[in-house]
Amino acid sequence: MPWQLLAAEIGFTIKVVPVEANGALDMGAYRELLSERTKLVAVNHVSNALGTINPVQEMAALAHQHGALILIDGAQAAPHQVVDVQAINADFYAFSGHKVYGPTGVGVLYGKQALLEAMPPWQGGGEMIKTVSFDAGTTFAAIPHKFEAGTPAIAEVIALGRALEWVESVGVNAIGAWEGQLLDYATQAVGGIDGLRILGTAPHKAGVLSFVVEGAHSQDIGLLIDQLGIAIRTGHHCAQPLLAHFGVDATCRASFAAYNTLEEVDSFIEALHRVIGMVR
Ligand SMILES: Cc1ncc(COP(=O)(O)O)c(C=O)c1O
Repeated sequence: MPWQLLAAEIGFTIKVVPVEANGALDMGAYRELLSERTKLVAVNHVSNALGTINPVQEMAALAHQHGALILIDGAQAAPHQVVDVQAINADFYAFSGHKVYGPTGVGVLYGKQALLEAMPPWQGGGEMIKTVSFDAGTTFAAIPHKFEAGTPAIAEVIALGRALEWVESVGVNAIGAWEGQLLDYATQAVGGIDGLRILGTAPHKAGVLSFVVEGAHSQDIGLLIDQLGIAIRTGHHCAQPLLAHFGVDATCRASFAAYNTLEEVDSFIEALHRVIGMVR
């Protein structure tokens, strides 16, 4: 959607990489879509709706072969796996504070130095200037200050730093591995539920179990399971075109985090059985 807003402003064509039945990106189609006219590839590192881990390193190499830049949305990757922006060769990489156990309203944008230096400021305000003159115009501070107009979200940034320290102290790989175990356990357990369909079955997946149940609307499942003390997310997960592609308008999504336990997965499965029994 941000690209649609920008396209309306400056005019460019958005091309969409299709997904395969298991939720993996169709890499053959991606190759075909790239051309010397491609300016920017924007892709999720990990899909929040399906859990698919996209092959961003390969996608970056292919984008660069065509002279395009790549911007990776890592909101769902940074909390679950080590991200090496240099190994990926990402031009830009972004993630949100509230997905790494930090506060809302703050996040991280990595950009290659030369690209950031070449870009104009996007907002004016305090701290982003070097000199201001009505006659000679304004010169801007060096990066990152050029992009940080006005008083920053000081408390949020400090809290985000603490959250990242905590994630590092536990070990992001250990977190990802544990979430993988919870996902495998839950995936196996829901396999026995009649009429339940998992959306997102790609071989490389993060700890997200997205599903629909025949004869039961996802919103009803979400509402009732909440009454049993289980918090899942329902809806389109900010991914309406993707859900439409799978022929649904909402899914239920159980997401696993560092602090979840196998016993909690058992409670979730038990509650899910009860809820399905109520709505069918
Ligand atoms: C993959 C992904 N990108 C972006 C966002 C939005 O992040 P923010 O609300 O910090 O802009 C989310 C979830 O909120 C997400 O899951």
